[in-house]
Amino acid sequence: MRKRLIVSAASALSLFLAVPASAADFQPGAAGVGDSYYPTYGNGGYRVSHYDIRLKYQPATDELEGTTTILATATQDLSRFNLDFALNVSEVRVNGRPATFATSGEQELQITPARPLAKGSQATVVVRYKGVPSTVKKYGFTAWLRTPDGAVAAGEPESAWWWFPSNDHPSDKATFDVSVQVPDGNQVISNGILTGTTSQAGWTRYNWRENKPQATYLATLAVGKFDISTDTTANGLPVYNAYSKDLGDNADAARSSVERTGELVDWLSGYFGDYPFSSVGGYVPNVPTGFALETQTRVFYSPRQFSKGANTSVVVHELAHQWYGDSVSLSRWSDIWLNEGFARYAQFLWSEHENEGTAQELADYVYASHPADDAFWSVKPGDPGADNQFAGAVYDRGAVAIQALRNAVGDEKFFRILKGWPTERKYGNATIPEFQAYAEKVSGQKLGDLFNTWLFTAAKPAVGPVAKGAA
Ligand code: ARG
Ligand code: ZN
Repeated sequence: MRKRLIVSAASALSLFLAVPASAADFQPGAAGVGDSYYPTYGNGGYRVSHYDIRLKYQPATDELEGTTTILATATQDLSRFNLDFALNVSEVRVNGRPATFATSGEQELQITPARPLAKGSQATVVVRYKGVPSTVKKYGFTAWLRTPDGAVAAGEPESAWWWFPSNDHPSDKATFDVSVQVPDGNQVISNGILTGTTSQAGWTRYNWRENKPQATYLATLAVGKFDISTDTTANGLPVYNAYSKDLGDNADAARSSVERTGELVDWLSGYFGDYPFSSVGGYVPNVPTGFALETQTRVFYSPRQFSKGANTSVVVHELAHQWYGDSVSLSRWSDIWLNEGFARYAQFLWSEHENEGTAQELADYVYASHPADDAFWSVKPGDPGADNQFAGAVYDRGAVAIQALRNAVGDEKFFRILKGWPTERKYGNATIPEFQAYAEKVSGQKLGDLFNTWLFTAAKPAVGPVAKGAA
């Protein structure tokens, strides 16, 4: 808001003279969005609506270069602002004019535009850069994973810093175009729809587009040699899966699981409502790590997920995140239960569907298998701490909390909540208190005690997730 003169009654005339903001009114944007777990993640003073990422990657040397163009809107009178990024920047332009820039802290790129940005104004920010991402360590690690034939960007909460500058926090979602040029014979995998490829002079360019709001950590990039499998579900949803050609003994189990993506999306839609995005699929690169990640529309699976045979449960988990995490995203990282508790609960429902144990049985098992003095109970799923964001309790105790909620409100209301929440908050952001308020509205019950017991108490609840009428 433009500053106005503070006037006394005696100078009421000057009320009519709105004073234009002077340079002194423009302040630097904060170096973080104010996340209590990760104070420097994301930035203040602007919001991003779109990322256009245009890169060239050479798998032989891991050299990545290109430009990212960011469409942003200032949310304050801005003299300076930050992006989060780890590679070497050679040039920054804001609204066409060269801007000065400097690095600070681990991943802060500080940009001073030639002309300050007025609150509410649009800015086009072009960042040109180059680097060998696997060699760049921040907080001692890199989320850029090398494979024998290429590389993958996947990590949570950090993964963007090694391939595009961003406002790196899930509270600021944007649409994405990802266009990457690679030597002929390689493929590029990213989010959304492959809108086309072009080839010239020995290089092929892949153009990907995610047209729904996407958190920065859910953007993914993989380069390598993949077997591609495409299909369309009965509901007309395009499916695009990719398997590294060198998965060895895990190849068949990976395909036996990930090829069921379309079927599992349809099955989950029965619980969560219509699938929120315009494409779906997964990719299995030959990475040495063990995790999977719900990268939007195109789930990342490490081959180790399939080392014991087919694993439809992990596919269900990552697809459940498309509703719980990707479409409805966290406003703050401390609410990670909204993602992991529900994705694990979807696995409980799948187990029940497959006659491998009911959700109640699995919840009872989690409760019984951890004695009261087990450190498991010291993690509060509703506020686990940055170091415990992905602790077992966030998933398992988190899912038991959901079973306890189901038993408290009854199946009819429970399944209305499970479907209503991602429908009502589609493409948005949310917090645990907001979810509790929603569950209270739908159920007509006060749920404060239940949430405190299961999510916010660092001790084993005295009573397990008792089935209704069974106590
Ligand atoms: N959201 C992921 C999941 O599906 C967690 C990944 C955490 N692991 C990691 N290495 N960042 O459970
Ligand atoms: Zn998960």
